[in-house]
Amino acid sequence: MRTAAHRHGILTAGGALPLVGHSGRLLRDPLGFLAECRRTGDLVRIHVGPKRAVLVCRTDLARAVLVEQAQHFEKGGIIFEHLRPISGNGLFTVDRANHLHDRRLIQPVFTRPAIARYVPVMSEEAHRLSAAFRHRATVDVKAETRMATIRILIRSIFPTARPEQVKRFLTLLDIVFAGVYARIAVPIAAAHRLPLPHNRRFQQALALAWATAGDIVAEARAGSGRSADATGFLPAFMRARPGGSGPGFTDAQLRDQVMSLLLAGAENAATVVALACHHLAHAPRHERLLHAEVDEVLTGEAIGAEDVGRLPRTTRIVTEILRMYPPVWALDRRAQQAVSLGAYRLPAGTDVVISPYLFHHDPALFPDPERFDPDRWDREDMPETARDAFLPFGAGSRKCLGDNFGMAEATVLLATLARSWRLRPAPASRVRVLAHAPLTVKSLQMTADPRVGQEP
Ligand code: HEM
Repeated sequence: MRTAAHRHGILTAGGALPLVGHSGRLLRDPLGFLAECRRTGDLVRIHVGPKRAVLVCRTDLARAVLVEQAQHFEKGGIIFEHLRPISGNGLFTVDRANHLHDRRLIQPVFTRPAIARYVPVMSEEAHRLSAAFRHRATVDVKAETRMATIRILIRSIFPTARPEQVKRFLTLLDIVFAGVYARIAVPIAAAHRLPLPHNRRFQQALALAWATAGDIVAEARAGSGRSADATGFLPAFMRARPGGSGPGFTDAQLRDQVMSLLLAGAENAATVVALACHHLAHAPRHERLLHAEVDEVLTGEAIGAEDVGRLPRTTRIVTEILRMYPPVWALDRRAQQAVSLGAYRLPAGTDVVISPYLFHHDPALFPDPERFDPDRWDREDMPETARDAFLPFGAGSRKCLGDNFGMAEATVLLATLARSWRLRPAPASRVRVLAHAPLTVKSLQMTADPRVGQEP
């Protein structure tokens, strides 16, 4: 349906209002809006308040931005500029000039073999989560799982972080994430500078989160983090030297990396696990097969690193949820020079948005895209185009650093819950998926029934 206005050869999405542009649509129904854009053209101009961006609706063009022509694009744009105050110059938001240097120092900590040593922490927190569920009681699966993922992350960053620091981050991140989304959806800086209670709350939460990250770095420098065999991301970053001997990260840089990891890694796996529980409650065959897998594989108390690879069905469920609900549903880039993208020429400075959600729900790539179907990942006939369009972790040099960590974490949490509990929607509960930054589900009320052999 090509009803939108034509400008610079790129169609503008329909329904833009004066001043606010498509902000209203983005706030009310962002995911429906994206689907409409896909029908409008390969590249579609969107207006977010006074800002303009180009939404990429073809996967080959998205790959060109993220991979083949990545050198012409910098991270930047409507979403990015609101993330920078949280992540500073940490890896998530650092500019191209410094990215390769920092990524080389940090990457060794996140290889598949390296993250194996964090699986015991994941398993311990998964057990703590499972033990908090009560027979036939209603539980907010999202809130509980989120506490588990934040604990896992903070304990992995710095194993001796104090419980009150963990608790403080839990509260602060809620306020910060909500404030960031409000700023992305309504990018009118003056509105967010007004001395209103919610603006003050956001600024205070941000300042306190930075101060807490600074304290953690100072404690690591002063204490156990210095030891050569100290585990944790932060001690490893402290030891990292370019080329083995160059100058390492300063304290300010380490604090930025801590904040960057919290921004990038706190919430996503929890959303994935919660939505997996929700869909499994409505898919008895997949639930049965999952239970059979965990009963067969998980014979010991804790899940070990070697078990994670022996849970293919659990992994396929996680993968399918990442397809349906990619937590990072929009990636943004800014053209550093004039670039050709397909048949279009984009001037330098153009903001470009790529939405994994849009591709993951394209029926031409994933048949019956709204259906929860973990088996689609087992089919040999899945076309290469669909695998290429699957971008839950992004692509290219800025691809998620924590992909192995996030996958292992979601798999361990889901398998541990499935071993003990059959979760059912709580009476009158409603699931609301919110396209915030990141895509999230606010709460997910479910009733926990112990599985046979697991009764108290
Ligand atoms: C299911 C879980 C996760 C998902 C879906 C996810 C998704 C993503 C995506 C899409 C990007 C690329 C953003 C862009 O290109 O603009 C990204 C980057 C990143 N993620 Fe993740 N992430 C997850 C978990 C994690 C975890 C657990 C950590 C840390 C422990 C982490 C750390 C990072 C970092 C540091 C970057 C920036 C990488 C760079 O620019 O070099 N992520 N993530």
